[in-house]
Amino acid sequence: MKAKMIVDKDFTIGEVDKRIYGSFIEHLGRAVYGGIYEPGHATADEQGFRGDVLEMVKGIDVPIVRYPGGNFVSGYNWEDGIGPVELRPKRLELAWRTIEPNLIGLNEFVDWCRKANTEPMMAVNLGTRGPDEARQIVEYSNHPSGSYWSDLRVQHGYKQPHGIKTWCLGNEMDGPWQIGAKTAVEYGRVAAESAKVMKWVDPSIELVACGSSNLNMPTFPEWERTVLDLSYNEIDYLSLHQYYGNRDKDTANFLAQSMGMDSFINTIIATCDYMQAKKRSKKKIHLSFDEWNVWYHSNDADSHIEPWTVAPPQLEDIYNHEDALLVGSMLISMLKRADRVKMACLAQLVNVIAPIMTETGGAAWKQTIYYPYMHTSIFGRGTVLAPLVSSPKYDAKDYTDVPYLDAVAVHNEEAGEVTVFAVNRHLSESLPLEIDLRSFGDFRITEHIVLEHDDLKAANTKDAPNRVTPHTRGNAAKDNGGIQASLGKASWNVIRVKLA
Ligand code: AHR
Repeated sequence: MKAKMIVDKDFTIGEVDKRIYGSFIEHLGRAVYGGIYEPGHATADEQGFRGDVLEMVKGIDVPIVRYPGGNFVSGYNWEDGIGPVELRPKRLELAWRTIEPNLIGLNEFVDWCRKANTEPMMAVNLGTRGPDEARQIVEYSNHPSGSYWSDLRVQHGYKQPHGIKTWCLGNEMDGPWQIGAKTAVEYGRVAAESAKVMKWVDPSIELVACGSSNLNMPTFPEWERTVLDLSYNEIDYLSLHQYYGNRDKDTANFLAQSMGMDSFINTIIATCDYMQAKKRSKKKIHLSFDEWNVWYHSNDADSHIEPWTVAPPQLEDIYNHEDALLVGSMLISMLKRADRVKMACLAQLVNVIAPIMTETGGAAWKQTIYYPYMHTSIFGRGTVLAPLVSSPKYDAKDYTDVPYLDAVAVHNEEAGEVTVFAVNRHLSESLPLEIDLRSFGDFRITEHIVLEHDDLKAANTKDAPNRVTPHTRGNAAKDNGGIQASLGKASWNVIRVKLA
C-alpha cells in the first residue's frame, strides 16, 4: 500500500481567499453569554469579553465571523441590541426556546471583532422581517452620518461607521424549522428586493443568498436554481451548509463523508454556472460555505433542555480524534475548490459545536477540531495547487472508491513555502507517501506536524485539555528531490516545506 502526490507549481486551482477560514457566533447556548462575553470572569476586559477566549481565537487567525445567527436571526429585532443596555428588552427567543437578554448586540459584537482581529459578517432577518429593516441596519452600520439611523449610531457612541462589508440575506430559509420559512420563489423575491435596497444604501457591500440548508433537503438543488433565477443580478454569493455525524459508529464511512461535501460543492458551482449562462451574464456567483462542521454528539442532551432560560448549555459537542480528521478533510474539500469557495464559516466558534470550550467562571480549552482548523488557517494561505494523487482506495457504506489519502497542497509564493495537508483515512495501517515536488527546485522540510491518537474517541476536556494535541515528530524526509513520509494510521498531517 503506497500513495503518491505530484505537486507542480503550474498546476494551480486558485488563490485562497482567507475568508474560507471564517467562523460563526450565534446568540445560541453559551456562544455569546459565557463564551465570548462573561463580565465576571477573571480574564474579562472592561467590556466583559473573556481574554482567554480572545487569545485562542487570535491563535487561529479567524478572518471573518458570521453573526448573530443562524436560526436566531429569523426572529431577531436588531434594534433590541443597540442603545443603553439597561433599556434593552428581554425576549422570548423562539428558535432555541430561550430568553434573550440583549446584553450584547451589533455594536458590542463589532467591538469584539476588532479585539479579535476579525471582520463581522452580519446576517439580516428575512424570516419575520424584510427589506425595510435590512436597509435600516445597513444605514445604521455603514452610513457616515446625517440620517436617522446613522445619527443614532453616533449617539450610541460610534462616530465612525462600522464599514461592515459582508451581509447574509437571512438564514436557512428553506427549512421548516426556520421562523418565517419560505418557498424558493418567496425567498428569491424577498432576497432580491432586500439586496437591492441594501446596496442602494451602501453599494460597496457584498451579499450572500441562502442556498439549501443541507444536501438532503427535498428541494435541493431546485431551490438554488429558483433563488438564483430571481436574484442573480443582486447577490454575490450563494450559501452552503452541511454538518456530519457518526451516528452509526462506522468510522470508515464517517471519514468518507467529505466526498459528499465535494459533490455538494460541485453541484452548486454547476447550478451557479448554468444560471450564468441562462442570464447571459458576465458575473460569476461564488460560494460561501457559511456553516460546516461535525454536529451530533449533543443531539440527545439538547432534547432534554428546560426552555426559557438564559444561555443554557446547548449544542455542546465534545469532539474526539476522528472528528478532527473529518474536519481536516472538510477543509481540504474547500481548498480543492478555492477557485469558487471564497468564504466559509466553521460553525461555530465558542462552546456551541465549537473548537473552543469554556467553563463558566473557569478555564477555556481547545477541542480536537481546533488543530486542523488552526493549521490550515495559519499555513494554508497562497495558491492552492491541484496535486495528482494516486492512492489505494476502500469502499464504505455510502461511498465507493474512497482514497485513503485525502490531500492538497498550498504554495505561498511570498513566504517561499509549500504546505501539504493530508489525512490518512486508514484506521489500522500507516500510509507510505511519496511527494514529487518536481518544479520547485531545492527545498528543505521545515516540519511535519501530526495529529494522531490510538483511541479514535479520545477527546480534550476541562480536566484533560491536552489529551489530543499535535506533535512535530512526523517522519517526512527529503529523498531524491522529493519527499518520503509515512502517515500514521488515522492521522492529520501538515508537511511544511521551505523553498530555496
Ligand atoms: O449552527 C447551528 C444551527 O445550524 C444554525 O442556527 C442553523 O443555521 C443551522 O441549522
